[in-house]
Formats: sequence, C-alpha cells, structure tokens
Amino acid sequence: MSYDLIVKNGTVVSASDTFVADVAVAQGRVAAVGRITGEAKTVVDAKGKVVVPGGIDVHTHFDMPFMGATTIDDFTSGSTAAACGGTTTVVDFAIQKKGETFRHALDDWHTRADGRCAVDYGFHMIVVDFPDKAEKEMDKLVDEGVSSFKLFMAYPGIFMSDDSTIFRALMRTKENGGTICMHAENGSVIDVLVKKALAEGKISPEWHALTRPMTAEAEATHRAIALAEIAGVPIYFVHLSAGDAMEEVRAARARGLPVFAETCPQYLYLSHADYRRPGFEGAKFVMSPPLRPEGNSERLWRGLVRNDLQVVSTDHCSFCMKAGTNQPGKELGKKDFSKIPNGAPGVEYRMLLLWDAVQKGRITENRFVEITSTSPAKLFGLYPRKGHLNPGADADIVVIDPNKPHTFSLKNHHSAADYNPYEGVTTKGSIRDVFSRGTALVSDGKWVGSPRHGKFLKRTPRTF
Ligand code: URP
Ligand code: ZN
Ligand code: ZN
Repeated sequence: MSYDLIVKNGTVVSASDTFVADVAVAQGRVAAVGRITGEAKTVVDAKGKVVVPGGIDVHTHFDMPFMGATTIDDFTSGSTAAACGGTTTVVDFAIQKKGETFRHALDDWHTRADGRCAVDYGFHMIVVDFPDKAEKEMDKLVDEGVSSFKLFMAYPGIFMSDDSTIFRALMRTKENGGTICMHAENGSVIDVLVKKALAEGKISPEWHALTRPMTAEAEATHRAIALAEIAGVPIYFVHLSAGDAMEEVRAARARGLPVFAETCPQYLYLSHADYRRPGFEGAKFVMSPPLRPEGNSERLWRGLVRNDLQVVSTDHCSFCMKAGTNQPGKELGKKDFSKIPNGAPGVEYRMLLLWDAVQKGRITENRFVEITSTSPAKLFGLYPRKGHLNPGADADIVVIDPNKPHTFSLKNHHSAADYNPYEGVTTKGSIRDVFSRGTALVSDGKWVGSPRHGKFLKRTPRTF
C-alpha cells in the first residue's frame, strides 16, 4: 500500500487512549493507525513526540468590527496564527446587523473568509435581530451547515437580546436542531454600574472588571438555563469565566439537563491582577467577561477535570493597543474604560498552554485532546469528520515536541496584534508539525502552509 504521508512512531493520544503507533494518510484522510508497513511520499519521524488530532477552536472573531474598531487579525493572519499554534479548525462568528437578514450577514462573512483562511472553518451566527420572519431563515442556516447561534445577555443597544427573544430562539432550536450559544452577563445591571463608575471619575481599565461582577455572570447563566429548561432544549455557554457561573452549569447538569460550557485560557492563566499593570497596560486584558480574582481559576481547573466544563476555546478577538494604519486600537478607551474595544488574541496560544497543564499534571493528555478537539467537534457538528485520528477522519494532525520549550512573545507570534497577553511565559512543549487534511501547514515549527488552504465546513445539526 502506498500512502501520501506516514507520521511514524509517535505517541498517539486520543480522548480515551495513549499508544505508540504510525498514522498513515491517503487523500487527506487518516487511512490507518498502527504498525504501518506500506510506503509513503512523505514520512515524518515522530519518535518521542506526541501526536494529537488538530485543535478545534470554536470561538474566534477574525475581521470583526466591534466597538469602533475592527479586529486586527483577518482570516489570513488569524488562521495562520491558529495553525502555528496547533489549531486546524476554527468556528468564527458571523454578525447580523440590526434589520439585516441572516443570509446577508452570512454572505458577508463568506466573503471575508473565502480564499483567505489557512485552516478549515465554520460559522456561528450572532443573532441581533429576531423578528418572527427570521425563524424560517434560522432553519435554512442550519440546513446550510451554520448550526449554532450566539445570543447576548450583555451589551445593551448593541448585541443584547431580551428574555422573550432568547426564549423564542431557544424554542426554535427544538424544531431545527440548532444550538444556542449564550454570552451570559446581566447587561442591564452592568450598564448601571458602568455609568456610576464613570460619573465618579473611575476611568481606568481595572474598572472594566469592577463593573462586571461574577454575580452578573452567574445570574445570567442561571436565567438562561431556566429558559432552556422551559424550552426543553440544550444550551451552550461561551467564554464562561466565573466559578459561580460554573456552579450553575454544574447544578443543571447534575439535574440531568443538557447544559454545556466552554472556558478560555485567559480565565485559567490570567487574573484581575493583570488590570493593575502600570499605566494603560491593563487595557490589553479588557474583554468580556473580564478576568476574575485570583483563586477563581482553580475552580475552573477543577471544573475541567470534573467535566463541568467540556471545551476550552479562545474567544480570539485581537485589537491592537495602538492605532494602526487604518484601525483604532484600545487607546480609544484611554479616558473611558467603557470605550476600550473588548477582546484579546488567543488562538495561537491555547494548545500549548493546555499541553503545559498536562505536563504539570493538572489534566491528563486524554482530557487535553477531549477539551481541545473531540468535544468541540461533537458539540458543533464536526464529528466524525474532525476531532479524532481514527481511519476516515480528516488528517488534521499535530505533532507536539514535549521536550522543547516554547516562550510566547510578540516577537514570534503570527497574530497581527501588537502585544502578546502571555509575553514571556514558557511552556513545556512546542508545536513541531501541523497537517490539515494531510497537507503540511507547519513543519519543524515553521509556517510552510498556504493562506488559502482552508475550506468552509458545513456542520451538522446537533446530535445531542
Ligand atoms: O471581549 C470579548 N469577549 N469580545 C468579543 C465579543 C464576545 O463577547 O465574544
Ligand atoms: Zn461573548
Ligand atoms: Zn467572543
């Protein structure tokens, strides 16, 4: 038998097993796993290395206009950063504008991504406007492979939906098999706190966090779970940050409800203390929900181990600090924290940060694969095409060198952002090779791919 590629002698890690094997690839798919005797055009020696399915990041914002700026990473730089960090699939958010159809918004995002994305990609739809007539359009999107919809309980006047809209959208997913992804923060309460702080002259980045308390996230999480329970459908919480919100998810799951949640590396590795960095530096970490006080991350780590949280995504939303040639940066909020564009880069750092957690004994290598690849594939209609390395799956393969450290820096990242939130952090392990559908995107730690390689992924309706 002749293959296109064999990754030889690696320690193959799946969500359930760890074993030494070769992985053979033919026509972009995994053809065999085991002791392979055949030949291949390309043979990569992975002895002493770890071989995992490509990372799946189900929460990115490439080329996203928001709060008076547009994220600095478009689909090309964002997806290149993803690949260099071991992520071979992203699910990005298309945004419906007020009064606009989903169709129009989706066409817009297809135009942004088509021929410009290095890794395979899908879309969620951000629902801003949901008149009755949009319900049928929502069904159509699910048929077209855009099977998840993000609604916001925060950002009044921009993204926020009221409870009746949320409830109607949830109910519709019972008919069409879509999944509602929820940004759970009580936006009305936060708005009052923000106005009060500004009136008192509290303008620095730290006040972004001080006006978005954990309880505002926990309350919204509780409310959304109740709405999903009444509607009789599953719900998925995006970028869960607060231990108290996680307790709501845990309690609901203990009652047997189909409630799921992701957290992000920033909530595991950074904390409120980062807002106290000198000058305006805290703005680097202005995102919503905000970074939480020290001690909170320990609760999230426990939740990841116990499966209270099923996914780690990034919420990659990269705004520069300084204004660029055609984009304002976080400086927009120098005199008013509420004007700092919310978000930070992350897509390139997730896999190594979590692999480091394996090395430190926080999670097993199998749990690493589960939360970075297998679970997101299953929850977002990409399985069995993605999320594992069994024969038949897309040959999205990442080879990690567990013995070569990697230090995060602005100097070596591939994002166009002008800062790295993890500057100077060294992980035990580095990304050596990345293949997407059998094609090399990263070889020996260097980008060798085409920024046009990625294909749109039509995702299936939910299967849970
Ligand atoms: O601060 C954030 N998270 N920006 C991106 C928008 C969102 O809510 O995901
Ligand atoms: Zn959000
Ligand atoms: Zn987001």
